[in-house]
Amino acid sequence: MTESTCRVCGAATRQFLDLGRQPLSDAFVTPDRVDDEFFYRLAVGVCLGCTMVQLMEEVPREKMFHDSYPYLSRGSSVMRAHFEGVAQSLLTDELTGDDPFVVELGCNDGVMLRTVADAGVRHLGVEPSGSVADIAAEAGVRVRKAFFEEATAQEILEAEGPADVIYAANTLCHIPYLESIMRGVLTLLTDSGVFVFEDPYLGDIVGKTSFDQIYDEHFYLFSATSVDQMARHHGLELVDVERLSVHGGEVRYTLARPGARTRTDAVTSLLADEERVGLGSPVTLGAFATRVAKVGDDLVTLLRELAEQGKRVVGYGATAKSATVTNFCGIGPDLVEFISDTTPAKQGRLAPGSHIPVRTADQFAEPYPDYALLFAWNHADEIMANETAFRDAGGRWILYVPDVRVV
Ligand code: SAH
Ligand code: TYD
Ligand code: ZN
Repeated sequence: MTESTCRVCGAATRQFLDLGRQPLSDAFVTPDRVDDEFFYRLAVGVCLGCTMVQLMEEVPREKMFHDSYPYLSRGSSVMRAHFEGVAQSLLTDELTGDDPFVVELGCNDGVMLRTVADAGVRHLGVEPSGSVADIAAEAGVRVRKAFFEEATAQEILEAEGPADVIYAANTLCHIPYLESIMRGVLTLLTDSGVFVFEDPYLGDIVGKTSFDQIYDEHFYLFSATSVDQMARHHGLELVDVERLSVHGGEVRYTLARPGARTRTDAVTSLLADEERVGLGSPVTLGAFATRVAKVGDDLVTLLRELAEQGKRVVGYGATAKSATVTNFCGIGPDLVEFISDTTPAKQGRLAPGSHIPVRTADQFAEPYPDYALLFAWNHADEIMANETAFRDAGGRWILYVPDVRVV
């Protein structure tokens, strides 16, 4: 099926990229369970009405977010510092009234809210994945184990009153049922409050051909244009945008009730930029799809050459993103010996679909491989700074964003 209807506005969508049959990106398997992996069809379309870029097929949420969801936000020192900064700015700029209240959707291990908790400010994390919610609770964060949706918002309102800030990082794009979320936001937000969310930016994904940002959990690839339309559709207004360098390029969007805040020039300017480059047009997205196929071909060609030369290649970072790359390109343990990763819940397991073993960071150095394929390219600065010994030992990095090259 290459036609569908938009999850936001109901207009027709047009498919522009098919990444094939894919496993759940965060479902790291034990060797005895490789025969019952769940697969779905990963294809992306654009709404011809509101320009929202979205997956053509939805994976049931309980299959992705559950008591053994492995992803931990605290796995990167740059991200820890980023979220501490977010908390500090919310505390300084928004949570200044009498007994303010902030709700975070998808608080994960509490990486942002623990700074708020330490400041003694009233907060609540809403997090359906029990494994990570428990870690947040241990860090002193108040957590409710639930999927945020309209009913959850109503319950929180009744129990705790309205929220001055509703915040979500790398979570709103994970949620196909935005209508219920937006009704929940309208229910829970104070009259002058803000809904702030940050997610991978379509402009960066298209600009860097970072097609690995597309996987089951990333249902939407937002742009200022599509978020502006989505906000209006649900009775809110896009009042601010800020481009962020984390995770390969994101945008932080601020929504408020109509008239509650003045729209900044940054919004007008980003909307104009997107219009100028035709960011949400089928032509631009079709050209992106062509570049994706080339990056995939180039990467497999390079890995095959290295295998023929008898070189050792190891993956670095068992990211959710890597599932798209390995399964789209057909990369298995024949081309990548193992993937090194610091996350306990991924180690000792096999990467979804590709069945490349995941090993500890220590094993990366025992001994160093000839090449490291940087699946966690979004953390390149941090990782390369920590791995100078690998370079000194003659090791080289393979990158595939924005194109395939060895450095
Ligand atoms: N905010 C963190 C975590 C992002 S991972 C960070 O930026 O690093 C996305 C998180 O969203 C997961 O922990 C997942 O369990 C959670 N999530 C998924 N659907 C949700 C929903 N409907 N409401 C709240 N959280 C949700
Ligand atoms: P990330 O790129 O944050 O997200 P996603 O899974 O959504 O694509 O994942 C980074 C992964 O890389 C995570 O599993 C932790 C791992 N990692 C390391 O192994 N070493 C490191 O130094 C860093 C920063 C991350
Ligand atoms: Zn639409």
